[in-house]
Amino acid sequence: MSYTITALSEHTGAEVRGIDLADPIDEGTRLDLNDTFVERSVLVFRDQHLAPHRLLAAVGLFGEVFPQHNSRFALPECPLIHYISNEDFFPDGRRYIPGEGYHTDHSNAARPPKATVLHAVSLPDRGGDTQYVNMRIAYDGLPQEMKRRLDGLQAVHVYQSRHSARKLMALTTEARDHVPEAVTHPIVRTHPESGHKAIYINPIRIEGIVGMAEAEALALLADLLEHATQPKYQYRHQWQPGDLVMWDNRSLLHKANGDYDMSQLRYLYRVML
Ligand SMILES: [Fe+2]
Repeated sequence: MSYTITALSEHTGAEVRGIDLADPIDEGTRLDLNDTFVERSVLVFRDQHLAPHRLLAAVGLFGEVFPQHNSRFALPECPLIHYISNEDFFPDGRRYIPGEGYHTDHSNAARPPKATVLHAVSLPDRGGDTQYVNMRIAYDGLPQEMKRRLDGLQAVHVYQSRHSARKLMALTTEARDHVPEAVTHPIVRTHPESGHKAIYINPIRIEGIVGMAEAEALALLADLLEHATQPKYQYRHQWQPGDLVMWDNRSLLHKANGDYDMSQLRYLYRVML
């Protein structure tokens, strides 16, 4: 197959052109794309126009589809795909902007999704970028003393941490039955494909650190977040019509930006692996 892969920043992001994910992909290409994904953490396929079932079939190339937690956002015709929209409101009438503030997706699952895929359906004229920070190089950038301190630490993740600054949309009753009460994950995780270590924290879901007093745990998590979100670890994705973006939750945090004209629809399909 004839396609090009271009780096989108010094350390994170790669753009793929010349591939239509609606077509069959040969095994050599699949492996090449997966290697790029593991190395660059964000893979951007330009000019894709995939209806929900096509999208589901296409991303199956990279892994098994993960059932997302809050079924209120599931597409009726294809429930493994959820939507992201700026036209949902909290019961009190405030607009709900999903994904504001750095986080990683569904870390309250015993086995969280390795990847999240967004496919743009409708975008505002400007704004609404998705920002990423690379937690692998952020880990590499920690002082040795901090790396030693983090070694072996486990964090407790829940659906909605009481320390979170951002409020999530309440789960549907049906979804509540499938969502675990609390799980633990190491604060430093090792990527199963690359073997690299990365910081694994989540301000909206971490309730505490096992065996550590709350004040100390919150201070440590705040320090780690401040370190990891420095501009030198960031890649900011500016969406183009037709973009399909797949990112690696094992080595990134991400956040949405509600900085655009809210009279314009921003609507994307979301699927996880
Ligand atoms: Fe997210």
